[in-house]
Amino acid sequence: MYKSVLLIGGSGFLGTAVALKLAAQGRRVVVPTRRIKNADTLLMVPQVEVVQADVNDDSTLVGLMQGVDAVINLVGILQGGNGNPYGDRFARAHVELPQRIVRAMKMKNVKRLLHVSALGVTGSQSSPSMYLRSKTDGERVVRGSFLNWTIYRPSVVFGPGDSFLNLFAKLAALAPILPLAGANVRFQPVYVEDVARGIANTLDNPEAEEKTYELAGPRVYTLRQLVDIAARCSGNPRPIIAMPGPLAWLQAVAMEMAPGEPLMSRDNLNSMKIDNVATCAASTDLGIKPTALEPIAMQYLSPASGLTSMDIHRGRAHR
Ligand SMILES: NC(=O)c1ccc[n+]([C@@H]2O[C@H](COP(=O)([O-])OP(=O)(O)OC[C@H]3O[C@@H](n4cnc5c(N)ncnc54)[C@H](OP(=O)(O)O)[C@@H]3O)[C@@H](O)[C@H]2O)c1
Repeated sequence: MYKSVLLIGGSGFLGTAVALKLAAQGRRVVVPTRRIKNADTLLMVPQVEVVQADVNDDSTLVGLMQGVDAVINLVGILQGGNGNPYGDRFARAHVELPQRIVRAMKMKNVKRLLHVSALGVTGSQSSPSMYLRSKTDGERVVRGSFLNWTIYRPSVVFGPGDSFLNLFAKLAALAPILPLAGANVRFQPVYVEDVARGIANTLDNPEAEEKTYELAGPRVYTLRQLVDIAARCSGNPRPIIAMPGPLAWLQAVAMEMAPGEPLMSRDNLNSMKIDNVATCAASTDLGIKPTALEPIAMQYLSPASGLTSMDIHRGRAHR
């Protein structure tokens, strides 16, 4: 069993769930973050060591490998600037970071690497978005590493604290109607706990090496259906109006020009040019039975649930 795991990107939404699963399996988990506050829910977990560190610094990264026997990389961003084939920030987070992780692992003789990519990556540079093209190149780095790698491609991930259904629930609370770009694009949302379990279950399995796993839920939905579920579960059912392509494009340009991270970019629209659904049935290696979305969404989006984020994390940590 890999007893000590460096979980890069472990402070995020999916990373927190993975950290809790690995800790529950009795492993030591090291979680680097650029801001300790991002990982505050993990500070309570005894087996998890949260370290303030920037993994973009090579010597820091090598230092973090000290005493670990496996590395999991979950770093991913949705907005990475513009460029051909992708913007600089996509290059740094999705391609150069995996390259530096591989180099650091070789220096420290760490051989097991788990890498989280995304559903929609086809392995081709003709992918419609910079996000997908940079994720494709990140996978290529991992496959060519000669390490004992496993790649995971989740569809959109739902669960308490997600930035997908929660976003639409928030918009429904603010607006009387919901204009929607990409209303007919299809997704196969997967529960955060299932993704975390799938990753934790395959870590020690030699059969999982040099394999790429798709992670998707039991049902395919259009984006319109998902937005409707988010609005209804949060107690704010709203009419949804499909936005014509050119209007969605103009809206994305305006959002990109506003200060801060855009809610929607042209690249996000490009990602939605292809459906986000699994190409095959879930592998039995993952040891999961995909969880249905509606009952879980009802639990965390419903205003009546009264769940605080602390309750949710205690529940996840089985405490
Ligand atoms: N959530 C989904 O629906 C979904 C769907 C498909 C694929 N994925 C993939 O799953 C992975 C995890 O997603 P998530 O939703 O958990 O993301 P998240 O909540 O945004 O967390 C991102 C993590 O990456 C780290 N990070 C971000 N940019 C970084 C950078 N430039 N340098 C170093 N660290 C950086 C953050 O660490 P700090 O604490 O240092 O900020 C954080 O731990 C990503 O690779 C994502 O592409 C997610």
